[in-house]
Amino acid sequence: MGTKTRGRLDTSVGIMGAEKRWLFTLFSAAFLSLLFLLFYSISAFSSTKPFPSAVHYGTHYPPAFAYYISGGRGDGNRIFRLLLAVYHPRNHYLLHLNADASDKERVRLLGAINAVPAIRSFANVDVVGKPNRLSNLGSSYAAATLRAAAILLRMHSGWNWFVALSASDYPLLTQDDLSHVFSSFGRDLNFIDHTSDLGWKESQRFQPIVVDPAIYLARRTQIFRATEKRPTPDAFKVFTGSPWVILSRSFLEFCILGWDNLPRTVLMYFNNVILPEEGYFHSVICNAPEFKNTTVNSDLRYMVWDNPPKMEPQFLNVSDYDQMVQSGAAFARQFKRNDPVLEMVDEKILKRGHNQAAPGAWCTGRRSWWIDPCSQWGDVNVVNPGPQAKKIEESIKNLLDQMNQCK
Ligand SMILES: *[C@@H]1O[C@H](CO)[C@@H](O)[C@H](O)[C@H]1NC(C)=O
Ligand SMILES: *[C@@H]1O[C@H](CO)[C@@H](O)[C@H](O)[C@H]1NC(C)=O
Repeated sequence: MGTKTRGRLDTSVGIMGAEKRWLFTLFSAAFLSLLFLLFYSISAFSSTKPFPSAVHYGTHYPPAFAYYISGGRGDGNRIFRLLLAVYHPRNHYLLHLNADASDKERVRLLGAINAVPAIRSFANVDVVGKPNRLSNLGSSYAAATLRAAAILLRMHSGWNWFVALSASDYPLLTQDDLSHVFSSFGRDLNFIDHTSDLGWKESQRFQPIVVDPAIYLARRTQIFRATEKRPTPDAFKVFTGSPWVILSRSFLEFCILGWDNLPRTVLMYFNNVILPEEGYFHSVICNAPEFKNTTVNSDLRYMVWDNPPKMEPQFLNVSDYDQMVQSGAAFARQFKRNDPVLEMVDEKILKRGHNQAAPGAWCTGRRSWWIDPCSQWGDVNVVNPGPQAKKIEESIKNLLDQMNQCK
């Protein structure tokens, strides 16, 4: 029977006349259309359906954050990964690849960002087009942070806190966790690790006078150090601490838009300090009577320092995972590029797929290996905290119970 059929088919193909050829073409076309429809429906199903979801801000909605993420040459991929790890449609993001990086790298970062459906739809990520030149030491770094805060204040009205991250940082919680935890206290709190006990820094960091050439020279040169030292200020009290801060919108408005002269006076002084980012916001807030009650003495970061401490904390790896996650910190630093421990955070805490935003309650796409759950979305104004939220809530509660006033 089989041979017979085959024989017949062979014959019919062999003698296919004009009419039969026409039929064959018709059937193939129908078959191809069917295939095409099938693939189309699969791809339509797995790709975006930009669902109109209004973003709401205000006291009746969860708090929102303005992230400033900065890095240098070769940091484009890390910044993109970090952006996806802290992404939420209600937040705003400003990415800065400093002047060391090429425009090509900047354009590549922009391309990667625009390939993420949610980011394209919510249009809440920007890349600084005219980058700042930064030195390791001196005032250019603090100047870039102030600029970023000014841009974010000017462009977006909804956010409540400004968070500064570097390319070597990573979150230890989801944005739903962060928003949930931060909704449990007043929106005027500022997370600034600070002390007025300057210790060795008084003679090493505050008395030397330096000038950052990145502010006024076009070429790259070493920081300029004066031979003379200057006395520690007594017109205001100097505070120092961690450069990593989470600042309330009202405090940044005071620093950048306000008419009180304190933020400017302190800035003029810090222009010639070796590491202004370790003391500028700290000194402003602690000398401003209307803000000094709003400080929480912590940067909410997990870091491990050498003894004696170097300029930067140790690189964290998989051996640090448990302690890091138990610490109740919101972010950790620093990590080497693509360290396996980041994979662990993605998998266990963020539940984040490769090149996908960390999912939250806003993501409604089905979870499967070929579908990004955040390529479809529902109400973006609700959050659904996970287990990390509890830990961080506890650690912040402990901090709030302590006296946080500047001393
Ligand atoms: C700050 O706290 C102190 C002590 O609790 C209190 O006396 C003062 O009125 C507070 N100031 C402001 C501006 O809230
Ligand atoms: C992690 O880093 C620490 C300190 O730098 C080092 O002693 C340890 O061997 C590292 N662990 C792994 C698994 O690389």
